[in-house]
Amino acid sequence: MRKEAPRHVDADEMARQATCARAVTRRVQGQGFPASFAIVTYGCQMNAHDSEKLAGMLQQMGLTPAERDEADLVLYNTCCVRDNAQRRALGNVTWLKELKKKRPQMLIAVCGCMVQQPGMAEQIIRRYPFVNLAFGTHNLHHLPELLLRALSSDAQVVEVLTQEDAPIAEDVPLCRASPHHAYITVMYGCDNFCSYCIVPYVRGRERSRDPADILAEAQALRKDGVQEIMLLGQNVNSYGNDLANPAANFPALLRALDDVGIPRIRFMTSHPKDLSDDLMETMAAGRHICHALHLPVQSGSDAVLASMGRGYTRAAYLERVAALRARIPDICLTTDLIVAYPGESEEDFRDTLSLVAQVSYDAAYTFIYSPRDGTKAAQLPGRVDAATATARIEELIALQRGITAARNTRLVGTVQQVLVEEASRRDAAQVAGKTSGGLTVNFPGDAGLIGSIVPVRITSAAQITLRGVHADEKTRPIQIETGGEIR
Ligand code: SAH
Ligand code: SF4
Ligand code: F3S
Repeated sequence: MRKEAPRHVDADEMARQATCARAVTRRVQGQGFPASFAIVTYGCQMNAHDSEKLAGMLQQMGLTPAERDEADLVLYNTCCVRDNAQRRALGNVTWLKELKKKRPQMLIAVCGCMVQQPGMAEQIIRRYPFVNLAFGTHNLHHLPELLLRALSSDAQVVEVLTQEDAPIAEDVPLCRASPHHAYITVMYGCDNFCSYCIVPYVRGRERSRDPADILAEAQALRKDGVQEIMLLGQNVNSYGNDLANPAANFPALLRALDDVGIPRIRFMTSHPKDLSDDLMETMAAGRHICHALHLPVQSGSDAVLASMGRGYTRAAYLERVAALRARIPDICLTTDLIVAYPGESEEDFRDTLSLVAQVSYDAAYTFIYSPRDGTKAAQLPGRVDAATATARIEELIALQRGITAARNTRLVGTVQQVLVEEASRRDAAQVAGKTSGGLTVNFPGDAGLIGSIVPVRITSAAQITLRGVHADEKTRPIQIETGGEIR
């Protein structure tokens, strides 16, 4: 247990930020600049949630949201999990240079995981002299101070904290992207150091929030009428490992949250090596816990899994899936897969295909291995050539498409509870929402349904989405016959 460092940002520091925030507000009011902001977010839900905090702080300082091309302050919240994520972010920052030529006053800030990489902030500042502000993942709550500094001088402002177990900042203002759905971070960082992954280097060590803080946040969200919460952590199953109370673990947290009464609870990500019977039983017994689990397997080959340092074998993973389906037959199971990991042979890849067919996932997110500086796998021999990598990912995607379509077809004729999220983008007479399993359903309905959970009879299944009709009758139980068998 790491008890030496303070677990939370202290009150003095939060008060200092509040003072800086008031100083920015006076400038906004006095000089009318910066009056507006736009945030461009890359990467995972963790980053999406960080952007809600950035937006919350900026709004509290008196700035209003605007389109990117009109905003006085544009903030790029970046990701570096794969090279293409990083290149996209940098490409867009370069593009802003043109905009800045037309509006020299505008401010450009770059933050998030990409900036947290060693040496990256300095590189950004050097290569992109038009960037005003760069900061990493551990000091998001310093935004008021950093913005004030950027407004007070023409110098580029950089702040990246290297403290890997940076204290947790509670009570940062938030501007939620949706009134019905909310993210709650339960823990920060990751201790797993999978060989290919940069996340532990840019998000630091595992730090769990106190259960009381999480529960208070959930209770406030319930009062606000939020219908669904998504609990976030790189490995939620490790929740509590760093807390003094041994009883504070993820299943216990889930049970307490289930009692709060928010209609839907989701969480991600679960690491297969730590998927306990207790968690499965808690999910099965929960009243509000969605029957959906994202369980990244990465590969179906034992040799590749061992090299990745994932901490489970193919057989162990399949055993966990069987145990899960035995307890929750209608579980919606999704995964992440990497192809072309260094040294991945044709046989290793076939093992991944056969595992995918055997598990029969509802959906899979597939990635070509991308070497990341500073990770173990980046040093490994046996790079797979680009043509083979592309051929492999295409074969994998085609296989999963067929499986997804077959899984979706099984729902035709059933009635699903759907949380209506938005008017359909293609057809104004339709609305779109999500089943408890997380599948998207489009059905005829008006915008008045948005934010409510309604029964929908599934009438057809397309590749990714389902179609249905609003079913007024009482919901019938969902019939999905998977039994305990993995198919
Ligand atoms: N904490 C989560 C995932 C975080 S990153 C977990 O352990 O499952 C999300 C996904 O990106 C990973 O599951 C993995 O499939 C993929 N990924 C991470 N690093 C990658 C890399 N270097 N190349 C390709 N894909 C990668
Ligand atoms: Fe990366 Fe592995 Fe941690 Fe997930 S568990 S964030 S893949 S190191
Ligand atoms: Fe990317 Fe950082 Fe998430 S690297 S995937 S935004 S934790």
